[in-house]
Amino acid sequence: MAVLVTGGAGYIGSHTCVEMLNAGYEVVVVDNLNNSSKESLNRVQKITGKKVKFYENDVRDKEALRKIFNENNIEATIHFAGLKAVGESVREPIMYYKNNIESTLTLIEVMTEFNVKKLVFSSSATVYGVAKEMPLKEGMPTGAINPYGRTKLFIEEILRDLYVSDNSWSIALLRYFNPIGAHKSGIIGEDPKGIPNNLMPYIAQVAVGKLEKLHVFGNDYNTVDGTGVRDYIHVVDLAKGHVKAVGYVLKNEGCEAINLGTGNGTSVLQLRDAFVKASGVEIPYVIDERRPGDPDEVYADADKAKELLGWEAELGVDEMCEDTWAWQSGNPQGYTE
Ligand code: NAD
Ligand code: UFG
Repeated sequence: MAVLVTGGAGYIGSHTCVEMLNAGYEVVVVDNLNNSSKESLNRVQKITGKKVKFYENDVRDKEALRKIFNENNIEATIHFAGLKAVGESVREPIMYYKNNIESTLTLIEVMTEFNVKKLVFSSSATVYGVAKEMPLKEGMPTGAINPYGRTKLFIEEILRDLYVSDNSWSIALLRYFNPIGAHKSGIIGEDPKGIPNNLMPYIAQVAVGKLEKLHVFGNDYNTVDGTGVRDYIHVVDLAKGHVKAVGYVLKNEGCEAINLGTGNGTSVLQLRDAFVKASGVEIPYVIDERRPGDPDEVYADADKAKELLGWEAELGVDEMCEDTWAWQSGNPQGYTE
């Protein structure tokens, strides 16, 4: 029996493949390499000493998906495949709706044809929209503030409707907070194309000299030091959460939204300081304007994941910085070297 991982060559997908293989699952990956490299999967095999079966296809290609389900004994799917850049989604909303929603619809149609009804979906804390209170709990109101977030919200609702129509489905909607860090080996990690949008890859590229200085987006937020606070989660903890979620959907029926976060908030300057400590490299910074749409603070109530999945994050911000540094300093050009 195997688990299909869509988008498995990407950042979170490749780390999840490692943990799934370590847990004894057979792994089949489908990815169109739109935002990733096949090299990540070679390295997953190097870390684990186990094979990953790889199909280079778009998840919207129904015939290709049918072939994958025909050739493999798939019992569950983890669905990472999707576009994820907030700014790009504002400029290209239709591309985001087409890619993220069509791929999910095609996937669930083919899963239904093959009677595979166990699904773990990559959602995001962005589905809470502009929240009135922290920490964020799964029962709180949802809303979207950009097309990317709207694709996540729509997909959550599509999957809930699917479950209502057929109670034999089992679906985990995993709402990730801010994944950072890399595998301890330092040979897989986040490899963004172009100038990074997110804080940690930006800091890491300043550290290796690819970028000149960090731009801190605002220091007048209502937070500990005025800079934005987020719930950073080590990507290996996140990957282990997926192993638990697969175990859960294999045993239970239902459709559950579950936060994957640590419950702790860290400010921009606190993360920058932790990175300086971990790397021994100075990270120069300037204070810039606020980035439109950024909230003061976002952090999770992580109790539901503990109750349902028996999972909680174990690694702290220091490890997140050490492991990011090992990956970035060992692979300054990402996978392209
Ligand atoms: P990523 O871009 O590294 O991985 C996504 C993978 O999906 C890539 O390898 C890409 O090539 C592939 N892909 C995209 N569209 C595809 C399609 N139509 N067919 C086949 N493959 C396709 O991103 P990631 O950070 O690993 O994120 C994985 C998932 O988690 C995404 O759905 C993302 O929206 C979600 N998520 C990410 C974050 C984050 O901060 N990284 C936060 C919350 C949610
Ligand atoms: N920030 C900077 N400088 C930068 C980049 C970011 O100061 O160069 C600040 C932001 O203002 C924010 C914090 O660092 O306060 C974190 O920003 P990120 O862009 O790393 O992360 P976000 O919380 O804004 O967004 C992330 C994902 C989104 C997802 C959202 C909610 O990138 O896809 O979490 O889950 F929607």
